Amino acid sequence: MTVLFINGSPRQHGNTAALGERFLHDIPHDTLNLGDYHLNFVQDFRDTDHPQMDATDDYEQLMKTFAAADEIILGTPVYWYAMTGQLKVFMDRWFDSYTNDFDFSHKRVYLLVVGADQPQTKALGITQAVQHSCEWLQMHFEGTATVTADGPDDVRNMADFPSSFWQLGSRLRTRVI
Ligand SMILES: Cc1cc2nc3c(=O)[nH]c(=O)nc-3n(C[C@H](O)[C@H](O)[C@H](O)COP(=O)(O)O)c2cc1C
Repeated sequence: MTVLFINGSPRQHGNTAALGERFLHDIPHDTLNLGDYHLNFVQDFRDTDHPQMDATDDYEQLMKTFAAADEIILGTPVYWYAMTGQLKVFMDRWFDSYTNDFDFSHKRVYLLVVGADQPQTKALGITQAVQHSCEWLQMHFEGTATVTADGPDDVRNMADFPSSFWQLGSRLRTRVI
């Protein structure tokens, strides 16, 4: 079982990164910081002769790592009550892979969300977007752990986590340990 953490925050050592590391502290995993990669906005080529792909950026490289993983942990801070642009652009590009018969099925997706302003209630749209996208792509959505934090070391110094964090962690551990 290969475990992949995808950090959608531009802060490489911020709260989302720390949440991912604490969530996966005893589980071997790879990490992709989306901010390290060049990703173009998705194009919609459906009404043209152009193939639904864009080989001018790092998307295919990212998807090689994605393809090798069974357990995918998506992490994002809340930006304007939604996921970051980094994660949204990456997920938008899944349309290229979907169009080209990439096999998403059998992958399991776990969502980590960090926000400052009542993210448990105000950032529910992130879970909805990821859950419905997983359903469309036949991936298994395993759930969300949402944490309230703002300063860059808040999660690193957090003494305890909400129950959703432990429940989601247990789900992952039944798969990989
Ligand atoms: C551009 C921007 C927009 C933000 N919008 C929200 C928001 O709408 N709701 C919220 O709860 N927090 C918001 N925040 C706060 C971040 O979610 C919070 O600081 C988070 O802990 C950052 O995680 P990171 O360290 O992984 O980047 C925003 C932060 C930034 C920089």
